[in-house]
Amino acid sequence: MAISKKEFIFRIQNTETFIDPKVELEQYSIDASCAVDIIFFAGFEFNDINQKIIVDLGAGTGRLSMASTFFKPAHVLSVDIDLSALLILKKNIKKLQLENIIFPICSDVKYFEISKFLLPQITTIMNPPFGVKKRTADRIFLERAFAFSNIVYSIHLANKGVHNFISNFIRKYNWKIDYVLPFNMILERSFQFHRQKKKKINVNLYRFIKK
Ligand SMILES: C[S@@+](CC[C@H](N)C(=O)[O-])C[C@H]1O[C@@H](n2cnc3c(N)ncnc32)[C@H](O)[C@@H]1O
Repeated sequence: MAISKKEFIFRIQNTETFIDPKVELEQYSIDASCAVDIIFFAGFEFNDINQKIIVDLGAGTGRLSMASTFFKPAHVLSVDIDLSALLILKKNIKKLQLENIIFPICSDVKYFEISKFLLPQITTIMNPPFGVKKRTADRIFLERAFAFSNIVYSIHLANKGVHNFISNFIRKYNWKIDYVLPFNMILERSFQFHRQKKKKINVNLYRFIKK
């Protein structure tokens, strides 16, 4: 049965998030409304989701993975290094009856590989660590995504330094920026040092394509 976008956001917002978030892994959950807007951008504007394999690197508790099912992907592979986050994701997909579409995979992104010859089009959609705690954390996500994807969507802090870094970094992989969508991402309080319950941060959603 088809459901409205509003109802879909409501269901995802009511799923569980990190119980004991790990600061070194930059574990926070995207709010459901941002997750669904991103997925609408990829699925509606660019038709990058329907019948495609979706890879969510750093899937955490699964909001982007779950949101992507709105556009009926072939399958969603939700990859995270942290088993406890994936156990919450498993609970969430069970609740929303998405177990036949979303497959959790526990792996360090560094070692995650897909043989793209066996699969149809692969779209990676990810909200990686920004590299705030470990400076190079975001690079390995981009590097791996470029290795097996046809299209990559990735969220990064919106500032000139980050943009310049990304523009240079991706060149050596023979990828290019196709589109940059600026938006306000609402972060929910995850750590004790977060003073506000919710905080808006300026981010860019990048759409990367091969040169
Ligand atoms: C910013 S959170 C995003 C969570 C979720 N995708 C969301 O948007 O709500 C980053 C996620 O990346 C995961 N992560 C960090 N380093 C990783 C690595 N090397 N390999 C796999 N996952 C990693 C963390 O455990 C965390 O769940």
